Amino acid sequence: MSAVRLLEILAPRSPMRRSLVLISFLVAACGPAPREGAHGWSSAAPVPSASDRSAAPDVIELDLVAAPHVWTFAPGRSIDGYAYNDSIPGPTIEAHVGDTLVVHFRNELSEPTTIHWHGVRVPHDMDGAPHAQEPVPPGGAFEYRFTLPDEGTFWYHPHANEPEQMERGLYGAIVVRGDDEPVVDTESVVLLDDLLLDASGALAPFGGLLETHGGREGDVQLVNGALTPSIAVRAGERQRWRFVNAGSARIYRLALEGHTFTVLGSDGGPWSVPASATELVLAPGDRLDVLVDVSLSPTASAPLVAEIYERGHGQGVFAPFDVLTLSATSDTPLEALPPVTRTRVLEPLHVEGVTPREITFDESLEGGVITFFVNGETYPDVTPVAATVNEVQVWDLVNLSEMSHPFHLHGFFFQVLSRDGVAVASPTWEDTLELHGEERVRIAFRPDDRPGMWMFHCHILEHAHGGMMGMLELTR
Ligand code: C2O
Ligand code: CU
Repeated sequence: MSAVRLLEILAPRSPMRRSLVLISFLVAACGPAPREGAHGWSSAAPVPSASDRSAAPDVIELDLVAAPHVWTFAPGRSIDGYAYNDSIPGPTIEAHVGDTLVVHFRNELSEPTTIHWHGVRVPHDMDGAPHAQEPVPPGGAFEYRFTLPDEGTFWYHPHANEPEQMERGLYGAIVVRGDDEPVVDTESVVLLDDLLLDASGALAPFGGLLETHGGREGDVQLVNGALTPSIAVRAGERQRWRFVNAGSARIYRLALEGHTFTVLGSDGGPWSVPASATELVLAPGDRLDVLVDVSLSPTASAPLVAEIYERGHGQGVFAPFDVLTLSATSDTPLEALPPVTRTRVLEPLHVEGVTPREITFDESLEGGVITFFVNGETYPDVTPVAATVNEVQVWDLVNLSEMSHPFHLHGFFFQVLSRDGVAVASPTWEDTLELHGEERVRIAFRPDDRPGMWMFHCHILEHAHGGMMGMLELTR
């Protein structure tokens, strides 16, 4: 393989400080041969899209109904969940860049809800968040309508009572394809989640000091709404996995035994060039788009393992566990496909002359009450950060606490400029990043002409719910 080694494995003694362990950039000479039969193993039913790449943009229209649902996540095991269209995850929305999405949403829950389109650059009044939309009351309806301007993997979830509505199963993926997609044998969305149950097997009660502080982590590990599945693959085939961390608080550090991932992109779409990685780290809200060339002999298997990962303050994964198992069929192996050649021009934002603003994140525990802060204030009593459309913003995100807080910005992608003063070499577009304990991360973004009050917050749902949420007041 024509791989050029550019970077050694970074800081092997503290791998948890890195989003991805890059081992090389791939430089390849020829395009892949087309193969028949790309299909996915996700359990969510795909929404048919008529995206013909040469044709004019399509309108993708669907009904989405949020309703109570008995969630059977393994044979004989179920909980009282909530679902979109009676499916957990909700239907995968597949589209092509430039398509228009029209969602006729109905709320059949007994509590108000909304849909937030995490990562999609929607008009402000379609964002489904506080200040963008009144929650849809029980029995109510709302029509979401917007175009999908960017290629990538996105997801949708409620922006009301998130810790409970999302734990009960309200989430789904959005796949937006571009004009230059790599040829693969199988493509799947991989939504990661966990459930916290009580001794009787029902959902454990919500809240409590420990859960509010650390976030809700469960010991039932789910992929696409099912318990640790075994995935049948063909030896030699190329799989594309679009990971979404849909969990409340868990950060996943994933390794596939005997394999290296080829990372195509992250939150805001493709990277400038694909990169090899031995492990992937996903904080809540994060996405990673990767290729896996299955190097198993027929009938052999390999686990996808969540490795030990400490997210600070005594939180995290302290014993590895299997997320899923790849099991090769007895079919003769397919011939390996050549490396992917796709590139994307990703210009760094010009930040000269821009005065950075400091945005701090903190928590306190006093008299048995935990409080979360953004710039010393607790949502909803926060002072909005004022900004003007088209003006580049440079923010220093400063975590004053010992625990990771995954930062998510609504509406706009940002580039990470530096972490603890160390410059980040090649820019990518992100909407979510893990802000490690006591870390300082400099980001830049240029809000385009979509004024409004946009939210930013920690994506540990219990923290956002507890007030670790701020506002960006964008005006013309
Ligand atoms: Cu996925 Cu405001 O969040
Ligand atoms: Cu947090």
